[in-house]
Amino acid sequence: MSDSKFLALLRDQIRSEFTASQQYTAVAVWLDDEDLPQLAAHFYAQALEERNHAMSMVQYLLDTDTRPVIPGIDAVVNDFGTVEDVVRLALKQEKQVTEQITTLARTARDEGDYLGEQFMQWFLKEQVEEVASMSTLLTVVQRAGDNLFHIEDFVARELSKGGATDPSAPPVAGGRV
Ligand SMILES: [Fe+2]
Ligand SMILES: [Fe+2]
Repeated sequence: MSDSKFLALLRDQIRSEFTASQQYTAVAVWLDDEDLPQLAAHFYAQALEERNHAMSMVQYLLDTDTRPVIPGIDAVVNDFGTVEDVVRLALKQEKQVTEQITTLARTARDEGDYLGEQFMQWFLKEQVEEVASMSTLLTVVQRAGDNLFHIEDFVARELSKGGATDPSAPPVAGGRV
């Protein structure tokens, strides 16, 4: 049986989430090299979150008896001029993913796929949070100008306390990392 439109989009989304994970790894390493350990730690953690998103979509395919395929990924940017460039790219990526997740939810609804529609609800909520937190970070970076210590301080104070796992998060194939 061929995939529904929703399942085809979900397979594409697994690639987007793995690409996001790899992109955040590149960002974290760049920041680490620039001696910005707090910001680097934030993006190392984001990279794992994106990997969890991909693997929870894989779990959904396993649970619905649809054979998952682990895809290759798109190209990753490694050259950045400034910290602002980095955060701008991250915000652009999150906005793109929000559009993709919205399309997935709409498609599930249009196809009368209630399970798929319900599965996407958590991701919609997650995208609201990720776009909001990345826009805040961009504002802070722009305001800090050349004073990178301000940014490090903000990340350490405001962004590093997200350790607890959201109990409503969907299960992750192989376990959450
Ligand atoms: Fe994601
Ligand atoms: Fe994200």
